[in-house]
Amino acid sequence: MAVRDIVTVPHPVLRRKAAPVKDFGPELQRLIDDMIETMRAAPGVGLAAPQVNVSQRVIVVEYEDAEAGIPHQLYAVVNPVIVDFSRATEIGTEGCLSIPGIIGDVERARKVTVKGFDRHGNPLHLTLDGWVARIFQHEIDHLNGVLFTDRAVRVERVAPELAAALDRV
Ligand code: NI
Repeated sequence: MAVRDIVTVPHPVLRRKAAPVKDFGPELQRLIDDMIETMRAAPGVGLAAPQVNVSQRVIVVEYEDAEAGIPHQLYAVVNPVIVDFSRATEIGTEGCLSIPGIIGDVERARKVTVKGFDRHGNPLHLTLDGWVARIFQHEIDHLNGVLFTDRAVRVERVAPELAAALDRV
């Protein structure tokens, strides 16, 4: 495993629509391992392949919230698609590893249903709620060349250490 460089705006890969994965072979396995290591090193709670300059539809998410009773979970999802958004939305503050020093408030669906594949090509069907649903929406946006600043109702420039205190994705 290796930590890869995280690209930042205005790198063009962040604006490209990423390609679906067709081959679940060793190259994908290496990519996913490296993305997990890169996310942890950042540190962050989510990462999309375009953020390591690979224009493919792969995301990783790692999250836990002991206070809210959410156990540690690590997701690697290939070709994720949001098949259902709750009508209920929520505004929350986001930061992005590819947009240093900026945070913003984004309205997102409170719950989403995501279909996709695990790293071995087995179908996944996830029902996600709250903060983890937000992370998935942010990461899947990355696969479509969309950044949270496109959706934010308010953005703010902050010192890097303040931005780092937020869970970045
Ligand atoms: Ni991001």
